[in-house]
Amino acid sequence: MPLSHDELDRIQRLRALFLDDARGDRALPDYWRDDADLRAYERVLGARIGWKWDAALSECKDRGMPRTDDAIVLDFGCGAGIAAMRYARAFGAREILCQDRSPIARDYAARAVAAAHPKIQARAIADADSDDCAFEVLLVSHVVSELDAASIARLKDLALRARFVVIVESGNKAAARKLAALRDLLVPRMHVVAPCTHMAACPSLRSTADWCHFFAEPPQAAFTEGEWAHAARDLGIDLRALPYAFLCLSCEPIAATTPPHRMLGRPEINKHDARVQLCESGALREVTIDKRTKKDTWRLLKKDPTSVRNLPFA
Ligand SMILES: C[S@@+](CC[C@H](N)C(=O)[O-])C[C@H]1O[C@@H](n2cnc3c(N)ncnc32)[C@H](O)[C@@H]1O
Repeated sequence: MPLSHDELDRIQRLRALFLDDARGDRALPDYWRDDADLRAYERVLGARIGWKWDAALSECKDRGMPRTDDAIVLDFGCGAGIAAMRYARAFGAREILCQDRSPIARDYAARAVAAAHPKIQARAIADADSDDCAFEVLLVSHVVSELDAASIARLKDLALRARFVVIVESGNKAAARKLAALRDLLVPRMHVVAPCTHMAACPSLRSTADWCHFFAEPPQAAFTEGEWAHAARDLGIDLRALPYAFLCLSCEPIAATTPPHRMLGRPEINKHDARVQLCESGALREVTIDKRTKKDTWRLLKKDPTSVRNLPFA
């Protein structure tokens, strides 16, 4: 069903709040007014966030993150509960705690999770900070960018109580750098599962020009269904660009083979070569792939750049 005028207005209002750069590091005040806001959000912005979660979780799985069917999973700042639903589908859960400062959002999410995963218990909770709130997996999705310094410090303490932490944020520079700074607070005490290939301080923070981000692939439906074409046109969203930043941590080291490096961002494809940025041994490195000598890699980078995480020869 195409988006109604009311839904479009609601999504535009939310996007204007999310994209407001003038806010700086101040926290964003509560913006959910009713269930209809969350329903409208879920249809476009939430769907796009779900695709980012699918990409991030697929990499976590490839890097050895185990299933968590017996775990209690806390979705902090759950909104409509998209992160919890994607996580449960990929890794399993026994119980899901939907936490949000907005009572409207947390109740909505608990209902949505229960409907999508009838075998998993879902509960709305107001406060995750108290010691009574026990959980093993912490999920955080598109929340870090909305938090001020005091709330980031509380989130850090919450993360240190988890066995596994998965955070997915928008891939814009400010959000990705805020996530990298949080990573550096957690990594001495937790082990990186993905995307980093090292435990050193995040090298993207050394220069203000860099940020650790990736691009997810939207599903075919985003290009073939008229509804998505209308939504993209009416909202001015480029459906092909799905930038995201993410982090998966474990309190115990995971016995998996660590790749030598991770490609960041999107490769720059030129007529005779391709230029990529790699994160390797705690440093960023630019690599040029010559089309003449590494034709297959150049072709793959041009045709399907989001599928390439590391280069076989670099
Ligand atoms: C952009 S929405 C993301 C919602 C959902 N996690 C997702 O990925 O679709 C950010 C959510 O974080 C919540 N939030 C913001 N600050 C919070 C805080 N200090 N404590 C708990 N939730 C917060 C908001 O109410 C909102 O639901």
